Amino acid sequence: MYRTHTCGELSLSNRGETVSLAGWVQRSRDLGGMTFIDLRDRYGITQLVFNMETNADLCMKARKLGREFVIRAEGIVAERSNKNQKIPTGEIEIITERIEVLNASDTPPFTIEENTDGGDELRMKYRYLDLRRQNVRSNIILRHKMAQEVRKYLDGQGFIEVETPVLIKSTPEGARDFVVPSRLHHGEFYALPQSPQTFKQLLMVAGFDKYFQIVKCFRDEDLRADRQPEFTQVDCEMSFIHQEDILNMFEGLARHLFQEIKGLVFHGPFPRISYDEAMSRYGSDKPDIRFDMCITEITENVKGRNFPPFELAAYAGAVSAPGCAGWSRKQLDELTEFVKRPQIGAAGLVWAKVEADGTVRSSADKYYSADDLANIALMTGSDAGDLILMMAGPRERTLSALGELRLEMGRRLGLRDSSVYAPLWVVDFPLLEWDDETQRFYAKHHPFTAPKPEDIQYMESDPWRVRANAYDLVINGTEIGGGSIRIHDPETQSLMFRTLGFTAEEAQKQFGFLLNAFRYGAPPHGGIAFGFDRWTAIMGGSDTIRDYIAFPKNNQARDLMIDTPATIKQEQLDELGIEISKEEEKK
Ligand code: AMO
Repeated sequence: MYRTHTCGELSLSNRGETVSLAGWVQRSRDLGGMTFIDLRDRYGITQLVFNMETNADLCMKARKLGREFVIRAEGIVAERSNKNQKIPTGEIEIITERIEVLNASDTPPFTIEENTDGGDELRMKYRYLDLRRQNVRSNIILRHKMAQEVRKYLDGQGFIEVETPVLIKSTPEGARDFVVPSRLHHGEFYALPQSPQTFKQLLMVAGFDKYFQIVKCFRDEDLRADRQPEFTQVDCEMSFIHQEDILNMFEGLARHLFQEIKGLVFHGPFPRISYDEAMSRYGSDKPDIRFDMCITEITENVKGRNFPPFELAAYAGAVSAPGCAGWSRKQLDELTEFVKRPQIGAAGLVWAKVEADGTVRSSADKYYSADDLANIALMTGSDAGDLILMMAGPRERTLSALGELRLEMGRRLGLRDSSVYAPLWVVDFPLLEWDDETQRFYAKHHPFTAPKPEDIQYMESDPWRVRANAYDLVINGTEIGGGSIRIHDPETQSLMFRTLGFTAEEAQKQFGFLLNAFRYGAPPHGGIAFGFDRWTAIMGGSDTIRDYIAFPKNNQARDLMIDTPATIKQEQLDELGIEISKEEEKK
């Protein structure tokens, strides 16, 4: 028997017992005649003690153990004189009587403790060592618990977990596909699923009624803290439902997870706001509603005073930051630099400060009278001590820049507390989005999303106006999940494809299998998919999903540990009928 207990288990109630433990040497300390070793396993850390006076041989043996050696130790549980209240086993130690080295270890490339000296790249390269650290491991355990609770809830609601294939044909989620060449069919490729979208709809045609799957999805897109090239969805679909049924069912899932994982109970329904309202009040379709500081439109209030940046702008808006009138010139310059960053793209920032006596001072004083400014303060609901930040330009770009500025102010003012959770539904998304470059419409969600029945009449005459029966679950400014009611009748589907510029042949070539299936009695259906990595990260109080994935890729989409992507052998290329261009080879 390797062990009688784990390293996280013993307490004063075990005092006097002879036990054996197995684990890794986290660190050892020699203090005069005593040697102490922290022995670690998945469950915790237990202190082993060796006494030079009573057992010199064993003590010398212990002193030779390096970091990360795997050992088995036997001894007696004793009360510690110097207790460590920070760890559950901190009241006891093991008076060690015997040790056995089960395996030696090279010196690890970084310290495997909660606070490590290892940089990101190094820890990614040795991810299996990083995963030994308690704080990293606990993220993966949180993920496990989330997955169990998701299954418990959905199973309890009658959902059936069905696996769908990974070698498929391009899916319609709008990112680039990862493709796999076929050896048997030269020149032909499988695509890895961006989501199981078409399969879950086919399962509805097959009569499964309620489907879910915790499933890997693959998207070749630019990476960010909340994106990985392979990520996991909790993918769901239901038949014979309306949007309301879906929102209720999955609000239930969110409540279940908050309760079971965080012990949080939300009173009242989650707020719901329309896409238009989210954009005009928060400058984002995934608003962080942990704090207010909403955007106020002031386009009409700033016109007619010959202030060039505002005079010609299609839109002007403001956010009012409470208690920030005392901000220094330097802080305001920093904010201006922030909004001018290319990713934010604003031309500049105008500020106004509401002084203690109610007068308003502004960086555009030359153009605006005291009354003008007082009016803006009134419009934006600003009081004495508040700072008003204004921007103008094209409507969408300016709203989005104001949205970023709002988030930045929230961050600087400590209003984005990761222990506070503010979920909401964003509904009534536009069905289509126009792309200037290709001069055509794209489906904002995907081409199977149903338009609102009352808007179908505008599909051809005024496509911008058509809203979708689509919804997103947003938590703390992160899009956790999104879905829609699907089109299930052939006429609306052909209308949609026509609007997207697909010919009947193209639609048939790409999605013929689904369109054919729909001719055999497709029930009304709809669904949603949640970003499981994102949801877990948020529950862990972080927005970096990498920390919640056991073996993630870095921001260059590389796995540094297994060193991939990598070249393959010439024989493999030949078998696949693939030739690498000379230029690529030189690289
Ligand atoms: P969507 O494309 O909105 O919908 O994806 C659903 C959710 O998946 C998460 N997500 C990601 N997480 C990590 N890395 C990525 N690269 C990434 N891309 C997306 C987000 C997102 O909300 N088939 C539809 C769902 C449906 O209509 O039912 C779909 O995939 O949290």
